[in-house]
Amino acid sequence: MPTAKLILNNQEYEFPIIEGSENEIAIDFTKLRAQTGAVAYDPGYGNTGSCLSAITYIDGEQGILRYRGYPIEQLAGKSTFVEVCYLLIYGELPTPQQLADFQYKLTYHTLIHEDMKKFFEGYPPTAHPMAIMSAVAMSLSTYYSNFDTPESIDLNIVRLLAKFKTIAAFTYKRSIGQPFIYPRNDLSYAADFLHMLFAVPAEPYQVSDVLTRALDLLLILHADHEQNCSTSTVRMVGSSKANLFASISAGISALWGPLHGGANQEVIEMLQQIQDSGGDYHGFMDKVKDKSSGIRLMGFGHRVYKNFDPRARILKQAAHDVLDELGIHDPLLDIATNLEQIALNDPYFVERKLYPNVDFYSGIIYRAMGLPTNMFTVLFALGRLPGWIAQWKEMHDDPATRINRPRQIYTGATERDYVVLEKRQD
Ligand code: ACO
Repeated sequence: MPTAKLILNNQEYEFPIIEGSENEIAIDFTKLRAQTGAVAYDPGYGNTGSCLSAITYIDGEQGILRYRGYPIEQLAGKSTFVEVCYLLIYGELPTPQQLADFQYKLTYHTLIHEDMKKFFEGYPPTAHPMAIMSAVAMSLSTYYSNFDTPESIDLNIVRLLAKFKTIAAFTYKRSIGQPFIYPRNDLSYAADFLHMLFAVPAEPYQVSDVLTRALDLLLILHADHEQNCSTSTVRMVGSSKANLFASISAGISALWGPLHGGANQEVIEMLQQIQDSGGDYHGFMDKVKDKSSGIRLMGFGHRVYKNFDPRARILKQAAHDVLDELGIHDPLLDIATNLEQIALNDPYFVERKLYPNVDFYSGIIYRAMGLPTNMFTVLFALGRLPGWIAQWKEMHDDPATRINRPRQIYTGATERDYVVLEKRQD
């Protein structure tokens, strides 16, 4: 077996090498501290493999993203979100019968307990929907408190996938003061969500095919992204054997941040500001490049992708197609396209390998659907849900899982004696 050698204080240590199925190399440091007394220092975990996983493969240099081996371009072009959920969680594309059963379950678990509707009334109408999503996802654990058997875990997975879109739609309805619209069993997953978001009891609502397809595509593209911030959070919380709902609730909180899923809201707000300033691209770019301004080009840059983000490529084309099909001209799409061009030709972005990420164009499509910006990250969460569940399940089912507990390098004061209050100087 190949090994890696480490020389520390003139002493040589050997560590096993692990090779992934795509020939990725890792040094197994499981015994690093036990053998050497040292720990690995890797803030932000950019060089740390936190688990072995068979779910999603990314090659950031080549712009490759695959779920369970299937390229994202093929899934985006040929699959559906429900099928992708099954693939991520159970490892294989479903047979026709498996898909029909899964679809049936996702349809017949969409209602939430009637008492849960009261939760939504407790929040101010101005509450950010991500805060409500995280709280209500956690609240599911108070209604479905049998977490321990494989059967109950499987049922809770289905419940969560089915009810999440009802919860997201109710959150939106509450924020705009409209009555909740109940799920419809005759509609597809994406169409039912659009219906719950936009129908009103006063008149019939025809779900748009264009928007249904666009939403399905968006959900597929967001469905998993290996060990990102929110997914690592789900695994971290789940590693203490916290239940599925609690772990997912934590993932929603992590996703909300503007450096992660919250970036899609920030992108639209940034494009709007540029429009309000009369389209002063160059003034804005100067601020982005000036580190003291604290301003970033939102929707640009990625920890892993250093060439292009394949999801952003698909979404850029989809944004143009959807707007064309709907006959909408959104000036923010023009601003986004121009900004991208300026950035891709600017040495600041070229040298740092900064490219549009998934959040750069997704918001344009959410806007075309008629959603307010504060709902964008909720849509991201709905898409990411099967990935979080698959990763949680993989961790939960792996007998080698240990509670996640990183070390630190302490840099504070060394031991000193307590000083009584009267003797402390102002
Ligand atoms: N605008 C301007 N400069 C940037 C940007 C940006 N969007 N992103 C990175 N940089 C610069 C950094 O200032 C840094 O410059 P330096 O080397 O001169 O110090 C360099 O590029 C590397 O950036 P890091 O912050 O070290 O990269 P990291 O991998 O830690 O961060 C992140 C990745 C958080 C995505 C970052 O690129 C960013 O803040 N982007 C904007 C927010 C965003 O779009 N987030 C969504 C990401 S996708 C997702 O989570 C779904």
